[in-house]
Amino acid sequence: MNNQNLDAHRFVNESVAVIKNQVGNECVLGAVSGGIDSTVAAILAYRAIRDQLSLIFLDDGLMRDRDRKDVENIFSSVSISVEIMDVRERFFQNLKGAIHHDEKRKIFQKVFYETLGEIAIAKGTSLLLHGTILTDVEEVERGIKRQHNPNIDPKEYGFQGKLEPLITLRKDGVREVAKALGLPNHIVYRKPFPGPGFLVRMLGELTPEKAEILRKASPIVEEEFDSLEPFQVFPVVIGQATGIRNDKPYYGYVLGIRCVKSVDARKAQTIEVGWSLLKKVDSRILEEIPEVIMVCYCLSDKPPATIEFE
Ligand code: XMP
Repeated sequence: MNNQNLDAHRFVNESVAVIKNQVGNECVLGAVSGGIDSTVAAILAYRAIRDQLSLIFLDDGLMRDRDRKDVENIFSSVSISVEIMDVRERFFQNLKGAIHHDEKRKIFQKVFYETLGEIAIAKGTSLLLHGTILTDVEEVERGIKRQHNPNIDPKEYGFQGKLEPLITLRKDGVREVAKALGLPNHIVYRKPFPGPGFLVRMLGELTPEKAEILRKASPIVEEEFDSLEPFQVFPVVIGQATGIRNDKPYYGYVLGIRCVKSVDARKAQTIEVGWSLLKKVDSRILEEIPEVIMVCYCLSDKPPATIEFE
């Protein structure tokens, strides 16, 4: 089911009225990631409550360079200020030693909301703005992965409550609302990027080195596979293997590339890629990221695989 019959302009007007009413004289804190859901939620809230809203971008070291740039560009273009907070050290320290996929997500979720809770106390904001959509709720109900939006009790982190203006919408509905708000196409049709970012795109422990490899490899694979119009394309650190660099043995990283088509992420099919494109990407990665010594293309569809690795 999707939001085919949605009247987006009406949705905007009604949401603004509901948010105004729900917030009253309180103040609201929202974290934005550059993704369409948090962006649309933030702009709706800003229209409703203006300066009662504080927006932040948590730089946790697990996002791509473009995520921060997109946040800066989008919100400066509509004259809404966003505070960038460097919380890399905190996330990396807390995640040190965590290897199991669900343990990693659990710690990420805890650190994320504890950080937001502390910021909220410092700023005196009592309500949390969330860009949760209906699909997030369903994914959690189906119990496949721990997603960090829907099952959060804001009171546990010092908030009085939360605002979820997009909770009735699916992705296509959010896109319609984004268009109605006048957002540019590169935001309206932005590819999904998971909240925990690189954390779910590396097997095993989070290290600065693995995150740096993904930061460098992400724009390469996004650029090279763009013409295939994937639903998502991204690199994954699969592990380490023996290799040779400068005629010497070198224990380097193995990077996987996941490139899928999908309608709503419930199912996904791996895109067939020509050999010359695969070899071009292989050469670029091995040349531009010397820590990598092998590149693999991930073949399996969802199910049984999932799109992200963890
Ligand atoms: P999986 O890996 O379960 O992913 O096939 C399905 C879709 O959800 C995205 N995803 C997330 N999005 N927070 C998010 O905002 C998360 O924790 C999260 N985990 C997965 C994933 O990129 C894909 O589009």
